[in-house]
Amino acid sequence: MSIGYINGKYIPLNERAIPLEERGYQFGDGIYEVIRVYNGKPFMLNEHLERLIKSGNGIKLKIQQSIEEFRSLVNEAIAKSGLADCCVYLQITRGISARNHLFPDVPISISMTVKPVVPLQKSIREKGAAAIIHEDERWANCYIKSLNLLPNVLARQTAFEKGCFEAILVRGAMVTEGTSSNVFIVKQGKVYTTPLSRNILAGITRMAVKKSCKEVSVEIIEQAFSKEELFQADEVFITNTTSEIVPIVKVDGQIIGNGLPGEYTLKLYHKLQQFVADLKE
Ligand SMILES: Cc1ncc(COP(=O)(O)O)c(C=O)c1O
Repeated sequence: MSIGYINGKYIPLNERAIPLEERGYQFGDGIYEVIRVYNGKPFMLNEHLERLIKSGNGIKLKIQQSIEEFRSLVNEAIAKSGLADCCVYLQITRGISARNHLFPDVPISISMTVKPVVPLQKSIREKGAAAIIHEDERWANCYIKSLNLLPNVLARQTAFEKGCFEAILVRGAMVTEGTSSNVFIVKQGKVYTTPLSRNILAGITRMAVKKSCKEVSVEIIEQAFSKEELFQADEVFITNTTSEIVPIVKVDGQIIGNGLPGEYTLKLYHKLQQFVADLKE
């Protein structure tokens, strides 16, 4: 059963319990994580919680809870939901207080939802997806998983309206990431991905792909690449927690490689599935 949680209380998902002067609601003053759960077990939970704390520090959030406490909370919510394959959305905001830009002296708000995973469409898994190139209009601290997602929402909607799955963002000529994914290209048997900086989110799936590359002896190079290099790539794929690895076979109407999910993309996807299978045991 899908469930919700806010500040110590489990609530039905349809209970609209957000106070009007919640800072997440009024300012987008908060951070979040999305954690994938396979067979009741959260995937790379530690890494997600470490990134949560890093995001919290990035916006000067006073988080008193330890990683251990968050781990217990997430596991408790998964158990309460009774869902085996699901996603946990965990959000922390600067709390509830009369609207004022300055930080209030109130407790942070912690909320969660646990809902079944909406699986990636089978046809996309098998045939790949299309993407557009879109200007990266976001702020200078994209390493923070902030609630302020308006530029991402607008770019993603533009992609959707053009019949595409994702918008690949560029600053100048260089690819940063997707609206909710990291971007990889494959050229002559080597995998390239944008290096970590303030311009991109340090994706947890990106981390898993790096590990997969090592295990299957494929070289992975963290090096910036341009949209032109992306168009010339043999393969393009994107990664995130909910969709794992998605082959991108068309960008701005141009076919990538041979127009089918590539050998390396599939190899890395299967390796990731092995990590998941190991987790399930
Ligand atoms: C902007 C952005 N980049 C990258 C990612 C991929 O991160 P992860 O693999 O941790 O889901 C996301 C996830 O939603 C994202 O929103």
